[in-house]
Amino acid sequence: MDRNVELKQLAVKEIEANREEVEKDPFRPHFHLMPPVGLLNDPNGFIHWNGVYHVFFQWMPFKTGHGAKFWGHYTSTDLIHWELAPTALAPGDWYDKNGCYSGSAVTHEDKLLLFYTGNVKDEEGNRETYQCLAESQDGVTFDKKGVVLELPEGYTPHFRDPKVWKHLGKWYMVIGTQNLEEEGRVVLFESEDLKDWTLKGDVTASGHDRLGSFGFMWECPDLFELDGTDVLLFSPQGLEPDGDQYQNVYQTGYLSGALDYEMGTLAHGEFSEIDRGFEFYAPQTTLDENGRRLMIGWMGVPEQGEEHHPTKAHKWIHTLTIPRELRFEKGKLIQRPVQELETMRHNKVEKSATLSENKIEWEELNGTVYELLLQLKSVKGSFSVEFRNHATMTFNSVAQKLTFKRKSFVNGNEETRSCSMKEVNELRFYVDASSIEVFVNNGEEVFTSRIFPEHGDESLVFKADGQTEFEAAKWKLA
Ligand code: FRU
Repeated sequence: MDRNVELKQLAVKEIEANREEVEKDPFRPHFHLMPPVGLLNDPNGFIHWNGVYHVFFQWMPFKTGHGAKFWGHYTSTDLIHWELAPTALAPGDWYDKNGCYSGSAVTHEDKLLLFYTGNVKDEEGNRETYQCLAESQDGVTFDKKGVVLELPEGYTPHFRDPKVWKHLGKWYMVIGTQNLEEEGRVVLFESEDLKDWTLKGDVTASGHDRLGSFGFMWECPDLFELDGTDVLLFSPQGLEPDGDQYQNVYQTGYLSGALDYEMGTLAHGEFSEIDRGFEFYAPQTTLDENGRRLMIGWMGVPEQGEEHHPTKAHKWIHTLTIPRELRFEKGKLIQRPVQELETMRHNKVEKSATLSENKIEWEELNGTVYELLLQLKSVKGSFSVEFRNHATMTFNSVAQKLTFKRKSFVNGNEETRSCSMKEVNELRFYVDASSIEVFVNNGEEVFTSRIFPEHGDESLVFKADGQTEFEAAKWKLA
């Protein structure tokens, strides 16, 4: 039997054998994509094709750790109801035997094309990398077409995650890599036919005068035009913590400016982190058929306490974020939950209060899965919202700081992530059974984090040290 077919069958068996165990986990998300079993990491191949949204994902079906990845596949017509499709890619060929690593999708001549990295390791652990192509007529079954691009000179085999797009009749591809001195960078390729690819050079790299020394490896690049600006999104590895910045094990952020397609270089300013929370990595965007730039990310970070996730006891780990719409406004990337999410709302409850050195809990606002929208009319001192005695969002108007705090799932200690904020007038929380995504001031900043509170505790407490006037609206989500 073909090795790919065999591997896909084994993955199906693994789903069936563990279905009950996975389904009884109270930490299972209600409105986030998760693996049917095993480990999920990066979103891949995000595309809107003939009215259907496709999100593929890095998938290890056989354990809750990393390894030879498959591409799992979800589809949806509305970004809300998702269906698990048959496994798109399995690591069953010589050029991808240690993993069908991350990549992207484009459509060409009525076909859906996947570009991905074939990861190969020999017995001594030496790595090889191949950029590969797979094609589909129906968006369900994919035919591998093999290697389209080999490692060029000047880069180590940490050379992966092709993101392909079309610009003025030509095809372009960015790849995340490092040079032989182990300095992170993104390279650009050009093609007339999606088969022959010519290296243009480094789009930008560690050592650039607006970046300085900037990590040993850059993963999962994405380059797109948004509201008149070119944005390069990527996940650098090897940045040292710097004040509130770069607190996670690995980072994700963007550079903005203008891409010179002839030279292959991006003229850009400084790097900005795209998320302020604990778990956000390797996001990917697509331009949907309505002209929106949508982004979905992995709600996890490589090597960041992964072995301590409590869901591993139920044979699964990690989720993707909710889909978000991106805009570039006043020199900044703005993220907003896609509007479709509003159709999940029901049972609206509204409250308002002025708190002065006290706290309040309204029974009707408690819960585990909901959207909470807070309008802060005035904050003097500090105002906080505490979720399930486990995680807290606090705005301190004197220190001009916004801080998310949670109990660590590694050791139970309190840990925080913060960013400076002159003013906070709106906080929108998407709360799921084991995650919180907070959109600040209509998408100016976002905090994305997993939470693992005590089961049964559904409390939601508002507290003012000082005086705060606010309005709250809460919807159950289903
Ligand atoms: C990012 C990443 C990618 C790689 C994939 C492997 O999380 O390391 O660079 O393609 O995951 O699963």
